Amino acid sequence: MSLNWLEIEKIAKEWTLEAGEKVKEALHNPIEVKSKSNPHDLVTEVDKKTEQFFYQKIKQTFPDHHFLGEEGIAEEGILQSLDGTVWIIDPIDGTMNFVHQKYNFAISVGVYHNGLGMVGMIYDVMSNEFFHASRDNGAYLNGEELVPVKERVLDESIIGVNGKWLVEERNVYQNPLRALVRDVRSIRSYGSAAIEMAYVAADRLDGYISVKLSPWDYAAALVILKEVGCVASSFAGNELSLLDSGTVIAAKPQLHKEIISSYLGEEF
Ligand code: IPD
Ligand code: CA
Ligand code: CA
Ligand code: CA
Repeated sequence: MSLNWLEIEKIAKEWTLEAGEKVKEALHNPIEVKSKSNPHDLVTEVDKKTEQFFYQKIKQTFPDHHFLGEEGIAEEGILQSLDGTVWIIDPIDGTMNFVHQKYNFAISVGVYHNGLGMVGMIYDVMSNEFFHASRDNGAYLNGEELVPVKERVLDESIIGVNGKWLVEERNVYQNPLRALVRDVRSIRSYGSAAIEMAYVAADRLDGYISVKLSPWDYAAALVILKEVGCVASSFAGNELSLLDSGTVIAAKPQLHKEIISSYLGEEF
């Protein structure tokens, strides 16, 4: 089946809204929570069912497309290449918020073609904010176009960062991050990387930093950020991998440059 990108975007939007409704409904019943790599790394059956929902829809509609999701639902196993069309999905970004707050979580869907970001959607389900973008067609929040971002100087900037990173002794970035937190106007921590990067695109934050994210955390955000003139890279300034995890800084371009040159700038 060959479809153009506008049609793929329309279908992706429909599926994302439908998935959001199912997630909202699931909140009416008790949710089974398990932990993964450590006691604070949570997953629920809703994360898995949501990923399964997208996987089935994609396989039925576009059998030749590929799939990468956090919960590893894809039958073909871990994705090894970005050739062709690849859907990179985080079924619930902010699972801890989903479990504890029933708020502040998002569905994140990125569609890439031969490694190029074509469509990005971040749906903040409970506040009903739908951020989306398609390549060279601008970025939108609930249908309203986001304007190219305006820079703010570092000491008037608000940065999204997880405060836990500042107190973890084993974290090699602890000192540079502390210096940065000291020098910016303030920090915020919303607990969903996708929402925080959408906020950078919407000019609610000036930057967002994480010492470790995976492709499904930023695949959609990269498409949205690019459309408003923001940039994202590793701490060393390298392009983010869509097959591997690593450090991430997403920000307005001047601020991105300044943070990398004055605070971060290297992978340890
Ligand atoms: C997490 C959230 C969180 C970030 C973590 C991510 P998840 O994603 O985005 O804000 O600090 O690094 O893993 O596990 O809730 O999809
Ligand atoms: Ca997770
Ligand atoms: Ca995530
Ligand atoms: Ca997730």
